[in-house]
Amino acid sequence: MYETPELADETFTRTSAIRLYEPGDFEGMRVAGRLVAEALDMITPFVVPGVTTQEIDDRIRQFTLDKGGLPACLGYKGYMKTVCTSINHVVCHGIPGDRVLKDGDIVNIDHTVIVDGWHGDSSRMYAVGNLAPRVKKLVDVTYESLALGLEQVKPGNTFGDIGFVIQRYVEANRMSVVRDFCGHGIGRLFHDSPNVLHYGRKGEGAVLKPGMFFTIEPMVNLGKPHVKVLSDGWTAVTRDKSLSAQCEHTVGVTEDGCEIFTASPAGLFNPN
Ligand code: MF3
Ligand code: CO
Ligand code: CO
Repeated sequence: MYETPELADETFTRTSAIRLYEPGDFEGMRVAGRLVAEALDMITPFVVPGVTTQEIDDRIRQFTLDKGGLPACLGYKGYMKTVCTSINHVVCHGIPGDRVLKDGDIVNIDHTVIVDGWHGDSSRMYAVGNLAPRVKKLVDVTYESLALGLEQVKPGNTFGDIGFVIQRYVEANRMSVVRDFCGHGIGRLFHDSPNVLHYGRKGEGAVLKPGMFFTIEPMVNLGKPHVKVLSDGWTAVTRDKSLSAQCEHTVGVTEDGCEIFTASPAGLFNPN
């Protein structure tokens, strides 16, 4: 049999429709998700004062290739590193380089792998040395907001339900949710429909259905939600230079809830 051009297009092009994957597709996502989680586990003991973000990038790239994965960010839209390393007031898409981590820094490491065409995308916060109580609190609120969002992932709920609980929790803690970046559908494509907003209203947005694969990746600021992108074209920072934290899982909607593809085998997802 031959593939029609329509089928070929449908397979690899982003459209506004939210793709529904088959039960058999979950296994591919499990494999990709596990590898990205193992890479983020592996790097944990190396995120210490004195290390450069480039060393982190090198270790994660080597680990990923050794285990048979492809680094999805490497070469993506001209991005030339394996991971994003976003330190302190960097919201996301920080570029690894010669920056040396120092005591009290918080750094988000965001990694995406491709295994057999399936994408796994996850990020975590890493505490470098000792954190001030206010900084610890920021990280805790960010993780709890993701946990609350994940609780909403079940058939019949909407994407608005996810955004609503994240925003409500973050703002109740007098912090803010970044609006300029969002989660995304994922699977055969890295960034697919829908945009998964981390704010919103109950009952709004598309209804969740079994077989949807997407990320939830809230970015939470201690100050105002506004961000700007630096002249390197990637690094997003808070406009008011307040600290920012983020964490991300790739999930699939099941018949009765959700499967987290990027859960940490070593239980290291939350640094606190
Ligand atoms: N992993 C990021 C996400 O969560 C995307 C990074 S794209 C890059 O969607 F090119 F900056 F790496
Ligand atoms: Co993502
Ligand atoms: Co990511």
